[in-house]
Amino acid sequence: MSLLATPPEPRPPLRRRLSAPAQRLSAAGMLLMLAIAAGGCSVKGADNADLIEGKQMFVAKCGACHTLARANTRGLVGPNLDEAFRASVNEGLQRSTIRGVVEGQIRNPNPEGAMPKDLVSGATARNVAAYVSAAVANPGQDTGLLASAVEPPGAGKPAVESAGKLQIAASPSGQLAYVSSKASATAGAVTVEMANMSGVSHNIAIEAGSGGASGSGTVLGASQFTAKGTVAVTVKLKPGTYTYFCQAPGHRAAGMFGTLTVK
Ligand code: HEC
Repeated sequence: MSLLATPPEPRPPLRRRLSAPAQRLSAAGMLLMLAIAAGGCSVKGADNADLIEGKQMFVAKCGACHTLARANTRGLVGPNLDEAFRASVNEGLQRSTIRGVVEGQIRNPNPEGAMPKDLVSGATARNVAAYVSAAVANPGQDTGLLASAVEPPGAGKPAVESAGKLQIAASPSGQLAYVSSKASATAGAVTVEMANMSGVSHNIAIEAGSGGASGSGTVLGASQFTAKGTVAVTVKLKPGTYTYFCQAPGHRAAGMFGTLTVK
């Protein structure tokens, strides 16, 4: 039987796949076979994997679309990976099998879905799959070197306005966050500049009030979007509290916002 020659069958809708663990298990088996058939021996022992690179590349390439608690990512475009694998983990599915599923998904995502093919390849794909398979539906937090492999979102030093300019960079690691989740400025015209080196498209908008993840205050101004580069917006601010946030769909809800205090 040549698995590779057979075109992939259309997949059932995600909701159905997620609510049918038995189906998931057989799909997992298929993907594992595919991964082995395609890669010769691509499902290696966990000891061969570089989990630190796996985590960093997961955050950079996958986290904008997927939630994974241990990686601190909160993307909402694709399925929450902890939820997607929880039933299988609880049923005792081996994490080495999940690793094959994840690697198969990286190579062969649903062609009609939003997930691009081959976002990572070779050893990097194996490392990402190893990290994801170790992390999914695994309570607690990463420890040691793995904990510090990626800076927690928004944990940078607060941004402080100087000469009318406030620099608030987007997380360079690809997280849906700005480097700092706090900023301060003096009243008057303020140019808010966002540098973004992540490759994920973001902008920065300023809203009155402290609306957090889901505010609906008046938007005073918004920059253009960029995936790589620097954009800026100038707003006139009175003393008070404001929120800066990214207007890409889902990014604010996923944590891409911060509080600006104007004195
Ligand atoms: C542009 C958004 C996007 C990016 C980036 C992305 N994915 Fe996905 N992913 C999706 C969507 C949408 C689905 C569901 C449709 C499908 O199966 O292709 C999905 C499905 C998955 C699944 C299957 C989950 C299930 O319920 O069966 C896994 C595993 C996965 N992605 C892992 C990854 C990994 C690892 C990366 C990074 C290398 C990544 N994704 C990057 C959007 C994305």
